[in-house]
Amino acid sequence: MGPHVIAATQHLLRYLKRQQESGLQRAYLTEEARATLRQLYHRTRGSRVRVQSAPTPAVPAQAPAPATPAPSPPPEPAKADPPIPAAEVASPPAESAYPAARVAAVRTAITPSGATKDEQLMDLKQQIAKDAAAHLPTLRDTMVFSTGNLNAELMFIGEAPGNEEERQQEPFVGPAGQLLNKIIQAMGLQREMVYISNIVKYRPAMPNQGTGNRKPDGGEMTACLPYIVAEIDLVRPKAIVALGATAAEGLTGETTPVGRARGRVRSWNGTPFVVTYHPSYLLHNGALSERRKVWEDMLLVMETLQMPVSQKQRQFFTKGR
Ligand code: URA
Repeated sequence: MGPHVIAATQHLLRYLKRQQESGLQRAYLTEEARATLRQLYHRTRGSRVRVQSAPTPAVPAQAPAPATPAPSPPPEPAKADPPIPAAEVASPPAESAYPAARVAAVRTAITPSGATKDEQLMDLKQQIAKDAAAHLPTLRDTMVFSTGNLNAELMFIGEAPGNEEERQQEPFVGPAGQLLNKIIQAMGLQREMVYISNIVKYRPAMPNQGTGNRKPDGGEMTACLPYIVAEIDLVRPKAIVALGATAAEGLTGETTPVGRARGRVRSWNGTPFVVTYHPSYLLHNGALSERRKVWEDMLLVMETLQMPVSQKQRQFFTKGR
């Protein structure tokens, strides 16, 4: 590693230490930054391997000693680093598990028409209203589509509307929605600035349905997947947050518990993607540690979006605050 690389690395470590002292517990690195770090890692590792695997050949015993000292060779021009083999810089498996093929397959299913995003959203709603495949008999009849800004940089995705959402025909307006609003405000945003939607657009039906709700099942989510994919394509957010394991499963097909999926930024078909706990989880378990976990996920999102993050924000939900 050259001295300039060592200096830059030390600088980076000092910077991260300062951030850590002021409350940062995780940092998001862009794909480009990570690729650069991977390259550095592989280069230094590669040079170690080269030293070990290509020892200097022994001077043959019979080699004649030169009569006169050989002139010193001119300094070698700095060699360009060899290209890094693609396999070495490929993303770690945790990121490659995302289902590009699954998304590509449903992407062709729905193409909203209209000259503006508003018209295209309206068309999506009209299409799903006529789409028996997306409106399974196990779902209730009132459509609850989405709310928010069609040009938002940030998109929150939940699982399915509940009682209050069905009544008001708007996602996340019940108790979980109130908490989501507070989270959005803590980020320095307003509900109207983000886009909020659900994987499933109808409230899942239950026998003797009262005010209770149930999670949508896999079939219900698969049936509605083309619409949420069309919404993501329409809004083109710079970051997506899946609220809870069910929403994450609906988007990715993976059934990873939130405790393992959260805390990092991955890619959902090219868009930075964070899984965090559903706000209703926090309504049942409001321990500071759990609120902090959700908040750390939001700090990751803010850093991904290059939003300003104050010292005060960094320390939300740490002890004594
Ligand atoms: N939970 C969800 O996942 N979505 C809503 O819209 C409301 C509660």
